[in-house]
Amino acid sequence: MLEYVSSIMYRKTQYFYHTQRIQCLGETMGQKRKVGGIGYGTDSIKEKGKYATKTASVSLRKDNFKITLDITQRRRMSKSPQYDKYDIAKYDLHPGYTFPESVESMIPMGTPEYIDSGQRYVERMIRALFYFKQCALIGPSGTGKTHITYLVAEITGLPVWEVNCGLQTSSYDLIGRFIGLGKENWIDGQVTSWLKYGGLLYLDEANMMKQDVATRLNPVLDTRGHLVLTEKDNEMVPRHRYAYVIISMNPFSAEFAGTKPLNVAFRRRMSVWINFDYESLGERISKKEVELLLKRSKIDEDTAYKIIQVGAEMRRQYQSGDLPYGPSVGDLSHWAVLIKDGADPVSAAEETIVALTSDSIEVQADVRRLIQSVFTS
Ligand SMILES: Nc1ncnc2c1ncn2[C@@H]1O[C@H](COP(=O)(O)OP(=O)(O)OP(=O)(O)O)[C@@H](O)[C@H]1O
Ligand SMILES: [Mg+2]
Repeated sequence: MLEYVSSIMYRKTQYFYHTQRIQCLGETMGQKRKVGGIGYGTDSIKEKGKYATKTASVSLRKDNFKITLDITQRRRMSKSPQYDKYDIAKYDLHPGYTFPESVESMIPMGTPEYIDSGQRYVERMIRALFYFKQCALIGPSGTGKTHITYLVAEITGLPVWEVNCGLQTSSYDLIGRFIGLGKENWIDGQVTSWLKYGGLLYLDEANMMKQDVATRLNPVLDTRGHLVLTEKDNEMVPRHRYAYVIISMNPFSAEFAGTKPLNVAFRRRMSVWINFDYESLGERISKKEVELLLKRSKIDEDTAYKIIQVGAEMRRQYQSGDLPYGPSVGDLSHWAVLIKDGADPVSAAEETIVALTSDSIEVQADVRRLIQSVFTS
């Protein structure tokens, strides 16, 4: 129950007639939440159930009486339509705090639905942020790590500051720099802005980070961390009270080309690690993934099932090193959309899944064979 009546006042128009307080939610009643105060990361349990509330008053007037109802509502972290799908109201990530207008537009909206088969990824990520301020996501390409991060930001109402560590991003881009001649015009980088405004810093492909960047980020990622702008007369930028971090990466293994182990200092700073995997893999076909494909592309069920079958087998071959890429459900949706538009499955695959997997003629022939075997069986 989210709403409760915190007080009713019967009032005679002339003078106060009667005031009665009604206890509707037991111990939550009358709990005036102090704004802020979750502090930085902690290693110990935190008291739950202390969420921010907002109160609205409604008055009814009849004859000589006026009845005033105070309705206290638990404040939702966001306006996301997906908010109520998850059991996360108890993990308020910015109790009583509204992000400034200048960064409000960076709070995602309209993130598509995310499916899982009972792993409760969204709840686990939000719980990790609530207790420890930061968490790490590990999983092969296309398992929805970026998607779910945006969904978590939308549901919790956090602006996203995204840094793709795999690109040749320099520490100047992240921290900031003077532009022009002299030392007059300083521009904050992503990380500095995040420290100042709060929100969710998303470090994608964190294990690909260059050493100089990692070195600058290490002190920041201590849960109480702050940044010293050595380039700007050692100005200290403290970490905003509601500044959270999610890092994501592909697992380090010989099968995933190009991956490397995560820097040890970084690893030590993450308290919670969440593993992602493909919904359907090899022989395992997820009903939920088939349903998602049906919803996204409106194709028939038999074709949707076959597409997922091809995808699941390609992922298996990718993980065992036989294919250079394993398709995400997003990639498979593109194939399905062209089929829905009237193309036959094999030629629609040519333009999407076959070409996407590799430029190599041999690899493309392998994918084609797989598609034909599934679609002619
Ligand atoms: N469980 C899921 N539910 C809904 N959509 C999903 C799911 N998993 C993946 N997708 C879709 O698959 C596509 C790829 O997902 P995303 O980019 O988030 O993967 P990723 O794990 O971040 O990959 P990478 O490691 O390459 O960055 C997107 O279109 C996303 O919407
Ligand atoms: Mg990603």
